[in-house]
Amino acid sequence: MCGIVGYVGMQDVTDVLIDGLQHLEYRGYDSAGIAVFEEGEIRVVKSRGRLTDLIQRMEEEGKPSGTCGIGHTRWATHGEPSDVNSHPHGNESISIVHNGIIENYMAVKAFLEEKGYVFESQTDTETIAKLLDYYYTGDPLKAIRSVLAKIHGSYALGIIFRDFPGKIFATRKDSPLIVGVGKGENFIASDVPAILKYTRDYYLLEQDEIAELTADSVTITDVNGDILSKELMTADWDMEAAEKGGYPHFMIKEINEQPTAIVNTISPRIEDGVPHFHLPNLPDDTFGRFKSVQIVACGTAMHAGMIGKYLIERMARLPVNVEIASEFRYRDLLLDKDDLVIVISQSGETADSLAALRAAKEVGAHTLAVVNVVGSSIAREADDVIYTYAGLEISVASTKAYTVQVAVMYLLAIKFALARGRMTEQESAEFCRTLFDISKSMEAMLKDTHECQYYASKFQNAHSLFFIGRGLDYALSLEGSLKLKEISYIHSEAYAAGELKHGTISLISQDVPVIAVATQTRIYEKTISNVKEVRARGAKVLLICKQDAVVDPEVADYILRIPVYDDIFMPLMTIVPLQLFAYYTTILRGCDVDKPRNLAKSVTVE
Ligand code: AGP
Repeated sequence: MCGIVGYVGMQDVTDVLIDGLQHLEYRGYDSAGIAVFEEGEIRVVKSRGRLTDLIQRMEEEGKPSGTCGIGHTRWATHGEPSDVNSHPHGNESISIVHNGIIENYMAVKAFLEEKGYVFESQTDTETIAKLLDYYYTGDPLKAIRSVLAKIHGSYALGIIFRDFPGKIFATRKDSPLIVGVGKGENFIASDVPAILKYTRDYYLLEQDEIAELTADSVTITDVNGDILSKELMTADWDMEAAEKGGYPHFMIKEINEQPTAIVNTISPRIEDGVPHFHLPNLPDDTFGRFKSVQIVACGTAMHAGMIGKYLIERMARLPVNVEIASEFRYRDLLLDKDDLVIVISQSGETADSLAALRAAKEVGAHTLAVVNVVGSSIAREADDVIYTYAGLEISVASTKAYTVQVAVMYLLAIKFALARGRMTEQESAEFCRTLFDISKSMEAMLKDTHECQYYASKFQNAHSLFFIGRGLDYALSLEGSLKLKEISYIHSEAYAAGELKHGTISLISQDVPVIAVATQTRIYEKTISNVKEVRARGAKVLLICKQDAVVDPEVADYILRIPVYDDIFMPLMTIVPLQLFAYYTTILRGCDVDKPRNLAKSVTVE
């Protein structure tokens, strides 16, 4: 996902832009560039590759000097990573940076070519730059509004005009953009970490609002040009959250933050042993009215939803369907006001999840967002939102966000169970006490990770690896598999253990690695029999099970035992070794833990 930073103030703008872009590197990118007002002209330096390549280029060409400009890290969507496709795009009069996808860019490009424009790049962004040039007759806001009326798709735009040195213009639709407010300086950014060093105060730009920044002023207007007075937000993160805090990688830092994140997320919601969310459109006494729950999300968030399914169905006896957002959004939905659609998203900006939310609202379902980023699009568009308090999650591989999403699933399961007479308040209090206790056990587990490091070393050279499990262990296998493959690049597949014999077991041969997750006492023997099936065909097995599980030594090459809780609580224990296994395997393979290839922290494009 692209990153945008803009600055106008009294500091060296190039330093501020590069620093801001460095704090957006976690979003994933393949090229970078800046455009700076320098002696009344717009100076652009851009380069394929990392920010270090851009810095190198500036050393070769001379570092732009000024106090106003825009910067960008590009995650290629249209056109391969290259110098010419890097942002900013424009000409000597106008320069822009863009995050998003312009869906009608080919039609716009044809229109402009007819007007005599010649395109250099393969990007959709260049069409915006040239369309701005086409409409610009001296009034930037008028030109911007004309462009917004012509383009369709998603965009966050930073724009500068040579005729207006010391001014930055910004607008957005479906791609996030904030306006940072400092003293004698102002910013635009795709995300808070880019500006945390300078200010924690910011405005959230809403759809098609246009911001006009100078060093001393921020003016935000709507599509009609009316000036808006907006709420000034304050980031509750500090700079430390955007730094590694002594850890080698953000991922291991965030894995270690999980116990605190769980407590921070659940304790504000538990009053006298009972969860309360105080949702404006979903009062406590309405939790019992739903005939079904749909949980919709992508990737790791969807895996947290899978855990939620098992919890809500087991504790509240309420049907739950979990669906990938990119599928849900195009289905013919058979939902209505008696259905609750829960959209889970760390970033709150995932395009597929946002579209699924809108699709659910269109058919009249009640929508509840479970989101980590305050004020994000999904949070603002849902009927109700439960914020997770994981804090800033920088690593592309989501860990603490998953864990706190699961924690919220527990609270929701209790809520539905209480509302449906399936749980007493006393049982709820006991349940919540266990959740707090688990966060302590998690803390203890994280103090000694040598076993996970050892097992990672045994599987680091695998070409393909299977995770198997049943029930909650299957949902955990899905997450363990995603963690491993997305950062270590080892192909991995999670399989319902009972399903192996229906085809996939043909892939099991001598030394094929299988990680068997068997923490559910209720079906432990069933899972073990599946482990024996793969062992009989030569698989190399790591078994993850409860501390007190009885294990035939012949069943597994390696056994990783974890603290004992009732089956239903085990996901919050089991996820830790699965995350650590992926992390250490990745380290051993020398891959980029926090910025895996091809991935973005939040996929704000379809
Ligand atoms: C998780 O490790 C991945 N980075 C990815 O699957 C992520 O969970 C997914 O893109 C959803 O993101 P969101 O939670 O911000 O919506």
